[in-house]
Amino acid sequence: MVRSSRRKVTFISLLRVALAFPVLWGLPGLSAPADKKTSSNAYPAEWAERDEWQRPEEVMDDLRLRTGSQVADVGCGEGYFTYHLAERVGPQGRVYAEDIQPELIRALWHQALNRWLVQVRPVLGEEDNPHLPRQRLDAVLLVHSYHEMHPHVALLKAFYRALRPGGLLGIIEYAAPDNLPREESYTRHQIPLHTVREEITAQGFEFVSRRPDFHVPNRSWGRDQYFLLFEKPDGSGSE
Ligand SMILES: C[S@@+](CC[C@H](N)C(=O)[O-])C[C@H]1O[C@@H](n2cnc3c(N)ncnc32)[C@H](O)[C@@H]1O
Repeated sequence: MVRSSRRKVTFISLLRVALAFPVLWGLPGLSAPADKKTSSNAYPAEWAERDEWQRPEEVMDDLRLRTGSQVADVGCGEGYFTYHLAERVGPQGRVYAEDIQPELIRALWHQALNRWLVQVRPVLGEEDNPHLPRQRLDAVLLVHSYHEMHPHVALLKAFYRALRPGGLLGIIEYAAPDNLPREESYTRHQIPLHTVREEITAQGFEFVSRRPDFHVPNRSWGRDQYFLLFEKPDGSGSE
């Protein structure tokens, strides 16, 4: 009896993984690390160091994420935050890990499968469309990626549509002098805080907070970072 219910659970788990990545079947595989906690080279040393200044647990607390939450990591890159988010929301939750670089999404897909992270859904987006579900997400997080995004208005509208009313948008960015022109943000990989705040509130989001003391201790490449939180107003419509 116990054995047959175990078999059933395994089958359901396999099915969930298979259904999680329908668009990506057929992509060539990459070698992937084992679970980050059991392999010494699976969790890169620079990520362990990054934990100290990126403070993922505090970020996820501010985003009010818990078991079962649904969240998007937009511009996820190699997935530094994706794995933290996956651990926080658990198998009952969902992490849409989105980027526009196919090779990053392919690698993430392989690693998520390898670690049995059924809650991770790698998504290959387009520059102006992150392909997120509508009205469903508790939070959208962008870490050091917003400054690269254009056309930013189309993306902000997409994030607004993807969030449920009351859902949160978190932006972590490298700080820039107030007078840095927007066009230079793309190449200098930094963006003034006031620019982010103005662009996001112009699309109907409400400013919630700026986390105090959210700094890079050794100022990576001479830059500091900030963390802003916005909310899709409760009671707002679908757009
Ligand atoms: C500096 S990396 C940050 C990666 C990751 N968030 C991290 O903190 O490690 C910026 C990422 O944003 C992605 N990106 C740039 N424009 C994008 C867009 N329009 N939509 C989604 N991702 C985008 C890039 O492909 C890149 O992976």
